[in-house]
Amino acid sequence: MNSFLPPTGSFPTTRLRRTRQHAWLRRAVAETTLSPADLVWPIFVHDHEASEPVPSLPGVDRLPIEGVVKAADEARRLGIPAIALFPVVTLGHKSDDAEHALDPNNLICRTVRAVKQTVGDSVGIICDVALDPYTSHGHDGLIRDGRVLNDPTVALLARQAVVLAQAGCDIVAPSDMMDGRVAAIRQSLDESGWHDICILSYAAKYASALYGPFRAALGSAAALGMADKKTYQMDPANASEALREVSLDLAEGADMVMVKPAMTSLDVIYRVKHTFGVPTFAYQVSGEYAMIRAASDNGWIDGEKATMESLLAIKRAGADAILTYFAPEVARWMSKNG
Ligand code: PBG
Repeated sequence: MNSFLPPTGSFPTTRLRRTRQHAWLRRAVAETTLSPADLVWPIFVHDHEASEPVPSLPGVDRLPIEGVVKAADEARRLGIPAIALFPVVTLGHKSDDAEHALDPNNLICRTVRAVKQTVGDSVGIICDVALDPYTSHGHDGLIRDGRVLNDPTVALLARQAVVLAQAGCDIVAPSDMMDGRVAAIRQSLDESGWHDICILSYAAKYASALYGPFRAALGSAAALGMADKKTYQMDPANASEALREVSLDLAEGADMVMVKPAMTSLDVIYRVKHTFGVPTFAYQVSGEYAMIRAASDNGWIDGEKATMESLLAIKRAGADAILTYFAPEVARWMSKNG
């Protein structure tokens, strides 16, 4: 990009403010636009009758299956192409070996089936492939002697992906950061006849403080305790390493890649998009939502404007789609503002 620059002339002949004078002209020269089609709506599902607010994510609820079905229908009406589902797994279903992840009647599978039955193919369903909702220790992988094991975890993830595909999930999204998991998942999906299920790999996922509200919503924060995920998620100091992660995942068969968090990784989003030219997703994670939301709820910033600006910046950096808890609200603002 920008291997040449057009001559810009100089003042007073050139006045860049000319094209900023009118709202219609600013719209006409806007280089980046946002539409509901750019958004993916992450949704928490739990095994209760009623919705329950997530305290650290004001405006976001844990929904019962019926609520997710309604939300999926709302996504369709709002023009949001896909939802990403995250199950709140009860303590009784968490174990050291995460075996409940493979149960075809677990909460996430029942939810996927219910949603598919209602909205059919009009809204895509994305499911995380990761063990953390199911492990009693809160890690994304199996543990032995305090170490998160790579290869045995990958073997389990490959089976979890097939279980999710059987339930009706359209896109599996490995978010665990184990090495080699994309290849293993692609192979097990193909061997089971699921050639057309897409893989959206969380390719460049940083060990971030901004996942806090998500882990609280899922109950994995309590399970994880003081532990962190730095032996598998990336060091925020590194960007070239993110390109290696992406290139490996693509070689292993990822259809789309994700960078996460978004606002602290705009340089990475940019480099990924411009290096590989593949569908690039960015996740505006729970902590990013919480920061904007809290400042807005306190009257310190204009929430609508700050949200739109944050999403525009992520898009401008090169994201093709953005996972954001603001998705339904933003899509509603867009239809209001024409
Ligand atoms: C699970 C997972 C996490 C997120 C998405 N999938 C948390 C984590 O890795 O600890 C974070 C999303 C968010 O903060 O909104 N592997």
